[in-house]
Amino acid sequence: MDPKAKKAALRGITYGLYLVGTKDESGVNAFAGNFLTQTSFEPPLVTLAVKAGTRSQQQIASSGVFSVNVLESGQKDMVTAFFRALEVDGNKLAGYEFTTEETGCPIFTDALSFFECKVVDRLEIGDHYIYVGEVIHAGVHRTGDPLTMKETGFYYGG
Ligand SMILES: Cc1cc2nc3c(=O)[nH]c(=O)nc-3n(C[C@H](O)[C@H](O)[C@H](O)COP(=O)(O)O)c2cc1C
Repeated sequence: MDPKAKKAALRGITYGLYLVGTKDESGVNAFAGNFLTQTSFEPPLVTLAVKAGTRSQQQIASSGVFSVNVLESGQKDMVTAFFRALEVDGNKLAGYEFTTEETGCPIFTDALSFFECKVVDRLEIGDHYIYVGEVIHAGVHRTGDPLTMKETGFYYGG
């Protein structure tokens, strides 16, 4: 295989960029992720790939839940704050306020909308592990255009 062609072709996949909330007995966490897609209407399922060995991956593996926060176009600064490991400060992560609802994973007040998932299947292969989440709860804070990877100029894929 031509590695340049592989990279260029895989970078043709278009993505959004989301804040994925996680938790375990030691607390909550969140990371910026784009490897996410809906994969079923009924039941409503999404598939998320999480870098193996990260705190987030270990939390999803142990808790069996995660949240997805849909950011608005223009919230590049907010998403950029979630590329590194974080500590919780009161009800804030990286300075951004969150609440919790059904799963206990962070729901960011500044996001457009969110959904919460229960892990119903997993495939722990490759350098990112794949979690299939059933959407068990969702909410809308306000309407707007979702943040896309293209607008940020970031790449995570190839
Ligand atoms: C543009 C971009 C997209 C990313 N997408 C993902 C992703 O889909 N899945 C993932 O596990 N990590 C992704 N990452 C990396 C995580 O944001 C990063 O590893 C984060 O620090 C993990 O948090 P943790 O160490 O607290 O678990 C992405 C990073 C960037 C810069």
